[in-house]
Amino acid sequence: MNIILLGPPGAGKGTQAQRLVERHGMRQLSTGDMLRAAVRAKTPVGLQAKAVMERGELVSDAIVSAIIGYELDAMGPDAGVIFDGYPRTAAQAEALDALLAERGRKLDHVVELEVDEDALVERITGRFTCASCGKGYHDKFDRPRMPDNCDKCGNSGFKRRPDDNEETVRTRMAEYRGKTEPILPIYNARGIVSRVDGMGDIDQVTAAIEKIVAP
Ligand code: AP5
Ligand code: MG
Ligand code: ZN
Repeated sequence: MNIILLGPPGAGKGTQAQRLVERHGMRQLSTGDMLRAAVRAKTPVGLQAKAVMERGELVSDAIVSAIIGYELDAMGPDAGVIFDGYPRTAAQAEALDALLAERGRKLDHVVELEVDEDALVERITGRFTCASCGKGYHDKFDRPRMPDNCDKCGNSGFKRRPDDNEETVRTRMAEYRGKTEPILPIYNARGIVSRVDGMGDIDQVTAAIEKIVAP
């Protein structure tokens, strides 16, 4: 099964993708996570992407689609994939069609997380992740059971993203509205879009997604 999780910054794409990985053994392909890893490793891609990401703008279509192609080849042909944060432009949607067709895969669902933009700033500015395993948390909505240790791996040490400040979040939202939302009609025309209310609590959103992927 191949699924796209679509929604603005802070909609819960990463949170729900991690749950799909745990429940169904699917693979999460987050272009944001992969780009952040490239920035940390100071690879040529990372050096190019760093400033763009800090401004909240989109990295070039060619770079992200190349990363996705590489990752699809690195996994077995039977692994189910969750695309988290990709595609984000019409050019990326077209590239994804080609990447999937070349590998005999097809898109099963596009899950659109519908959220209220005003709530997203609070979600994003309160977000942090485990520095060891990447599990996501939130200051108010999803705290670790022990304040200093990760629920999943037990290690201490959390981190926050440099682009998670209010000003950059506004730019990221504008990029979503201007470039990403306009790709929805492509998938609507294929009848594969399911809308999920992303404003419920995390478990409610998971339950709604389960009804789509495992009815
Ligand atoms: P990316 O990493 O994809 O960021 P984003 O799209 O801005 O989305 P986020 O990761 O901020 O939000 P999310 O929906 O994953 O929310 P989360 O689950 O964490 O991209 C970053 C940058 O990389 C881009 O700006 C761009 O520069 C570049 N990039 C990436 N992909 C690209 C591409 N394809 N093309 C070009 N450039 C690209 O949830 C947020 C918080 O809320 C968490 O703390 C969570 O605990 C909490 N939360 C989640 N759900 C709920 C809920 N239901 N109730 C309460 N709290 C909740
Ligand atoms: Mg994310
Ligand atoms: Zn951890």
